[in-house]
Amino acid sequence: MCMRMLSSLFALCAFAACSPAAETALAPTPPMGWNSWNHFACKVTAADVRGAANAIASNGMKEAGYVYVNVDDCWQGSRDEQGRIQPNKNFGDMKALADYVHSKGLKFGIYSSPGPETCAGFTGSYQHEEQDAQTYAEWGVDYLKYDWCSASQVYPVSQIREVYKKMHDALEKTRRPIVFSLCQYGWDLVWRWGKDVGGNLWRTTGDIQDRYESMANIGFGQAGLEAFAGPGHWNDPDMLEIGNGGMRHDEYITHMTLWCLLAAPLLAGNDLTRVTPEDQAILLNKEAIAVDQDPKGAQGHRVSAEGPLEVWAKPLSDGSVVVGLFSRAGTFPVKVSFKDIGFTGSVHVRDLWAHKDLGMAENEFTAQVPRHGAVMIRVWK
Ligand code: GLA
Repeated sequence: MCMRMLSSLFALCAFAACSPAAETALAPTPPMGWNSWNHFACKVTAADVRGAANAIASNGMKEAGYVYVNVDDCWQGSRDEQGRIQPNKNFGDMKALADYVHSKGLKFGIYSSPGPETCAGFTGSYQHEEQDAQTYAEWGVDYLKYDWCSASQVYPVSQIREVYKKMHDALEKTRRPIVFSLCQYGWDLVWRWGKDVGGNLWRTTGDIQDRYESMANIGFGQAGLEAFAGPGHWNDPDMLEIGNGGMRHDEYITHMTLWCLLAAPLLAGNDLTRVTPEDQAILLNKEAIAVDQDPKGAQGHRVSAEGPLEVWAKPLSDGSVVVGLFSRAGTFPVKVSFKDIGFTGSVHVRDLWAHKDLGMAENEFTAQVPRHGAVMIRVWK
């Protein structure tokens, strides 16, 4: 009986606005890839996007799980006589660009706004939602970031849920699987309803900047939101700044450690054609990525905070727990007590940045954490 019920559920899902199952299938683990905004902003061109796709396909990122190549704002031109959105001269042919990205075994993402204009003043989807969704599907789009921006000029914020649902339904009507990324800066406690309007991820904060304070305020500020993330629907503390040059090595280590513990989407935001081996190694740390992508889909939580010294933990599907030890101040010893993460007696400890087993430990583990830095360990019985 269960099997029959299950198969009719899947049949339904193929045709209708359905289901948690369909949404989970779109983003079973947090989406990974690249987005043009943090580095290129409005200077982005199709050539930059092709460059990013080439880099991902050849530098180990694709194998590590980075698959979405996402154009952010500033690709849009005007609408033609039928109202169909046209790319601007920096992009030319979006279908050709999507085909190119797909030819590399990657997926293609795009950006719009429910308002008349995007945040950078380009044409938004207002009153063209179904038409745009259809156009994206024809181009071969696999991911849409939908950014509130000027929507405040045409909708009261009280309608924000319906506005997002409208685009979700339009995407669903195309029958093409398209990841739906809500971007409205965490307004109206989006984590409480983002999933109900079909969001696969939703921004929980304003824009990240390539500075430690910005990244740390956003990342550590996610405490308490862990109840709202899980397979198919993720909190999004914004894209990565690793490799953009505004933070020191230890600060980028904190960025990656924290985002992986948070089960955050990992969207690199740097110029992938010019990346130092040091930054590349951070983005490519497979042990860290495995924490982010763990199939249990639990978002890590804050275990303790002694002023600026924080301890976070994320349970993994194999029963182990990954712990981040952070110093938001100077260099200090930071300690985790194993009872606080559900272990008694002696446990195995592995350092996920040094890629080294540290042997067995009893009761607690302490590491010297550099200023603004992080240590990430996996603990298991
Ligand atoms: C907003 C978003 C950013 C980016 C820009 C583009 O600020 O939050 O992530 O998409 O718009 O204009």
